[in-house]
Amino acid sequence: MITKDLNNAKEVLENCGIIGLPTETVYGIAGSAFSDEAIHKIYAIKNRPFENPLILHLADKDQLSALVTHIPDEIEILMKTFSPGPITFLLPKSKKVLDSLTAGKPNVAIRIPSHPVAYQLLSELEFPLVAPSANPFQRVSSVTAQQVEDYFSNDELLILDGGQTNYGIESTIVGFENGRVTLYREGFITISQIEKVINTTIVNKTQSKVVEAPGMYKKHYAPNCEIIIARDIMREIERWKDKNIGLLLLKPMINQLVPFSISLSNNGDTKEALSNLYNALHSLERQKVEVIITHLFPNDDYGNIINDRILKASYK
Ligand code: TXA
Ligand code: MG
Repeated sequence: MITKDLNNAKEVLENCGIIGLPTETVYGIAGSAFSDEAIHKIYAIKNRPFENPLILHLADKDQLSALVTHIPDEIEILMKTFSPGPITFLLPKSKKVLDSLTAGKPNVAIRIPSHPVAYQLLSELEFPLVAPSANPFQRVSSVTAQQVEDYFSNDELLILDGGQTNYGIESTIVGFENGRVTLYREGFITISQIEKVINTTIVNKTQSKVVEAPGMYKKHYAPNCEIIIARDIMREIERWKDKNIGLLLLKPMINQLVPFSISLSNNGDTKEALSNLYNALHSLERQKVEVIITHLFPNDDYGNIINDRILKASYK
């Protein structure tokens, strides 16, 4: 059920229940970070493997010192610059953080969201919230309350409506390894933005073969149909002509050829396209297309992030 009633959401959370939570990146499925029961409900509803840990969400930095044992200087600088906002930090956890939340790992992922509804809720609760993205395991994250409802319609999940999310893509995840800032997942905050702030290069582990932070699972972010990354769009349209095709393009091109066709930015702006990507995948899925034909996006900061997501979505 979708609601705007904060008190209703609070009551569910205070009783170890879980809710759909709007944030500025994507919707989350939130529960008390101090409740094993809530954490288990989150894993269960998402059908998520237990080795994949959850992000802990705080109202502000004041709560941080109780939850982590150390904050490296570079991370502190990044936090000052980008938090509250679409970035998550992996930091060494204190004893207060439940093992079920970090999947037994020594670090805890911490994010301070900037969404006004998330902030309001977090600041009124006596405990922080864990919140993975609000989608079944390996499916596209949700950017509206309705998309969450569509995924979990059988689960009687209360979903707090905060409108469509601003950024439309998950948070960037960074940590600190061997004395260097390390990137585990690219999101709206890019590598260049981070490097500019700390004035040095970072280690990019987003393509790492070892699943350390499973935005790193090979298949991920996938709609429930085939995704074809075409070299020659016209040829693919011809090849799949007997199927219900959806076309996903950077800018308006040959949209009239296919009934379900979405261009992510009128003037080819990859930043705008990134923000619109998940919503577009949800729309195509709702049209029950059988195959999505798309292309590689331009090789720039935001285009590369889109490519990362569509490559993972197309992985079989
Ligand atoms: O924007 C976001 O980050 C959204 C909103 C709801 O805040 N949340 C989100 O959560 O995307 P999720 O669970 O879908 O993705 C979190 C990623 C996972 O790939 C997980 O493996 C990684 O963060 N992660 C969380 N805690 C970790 C830890 N302690 N060590 C390593 N990786 C961790
Ligand atoms: Mg996710």
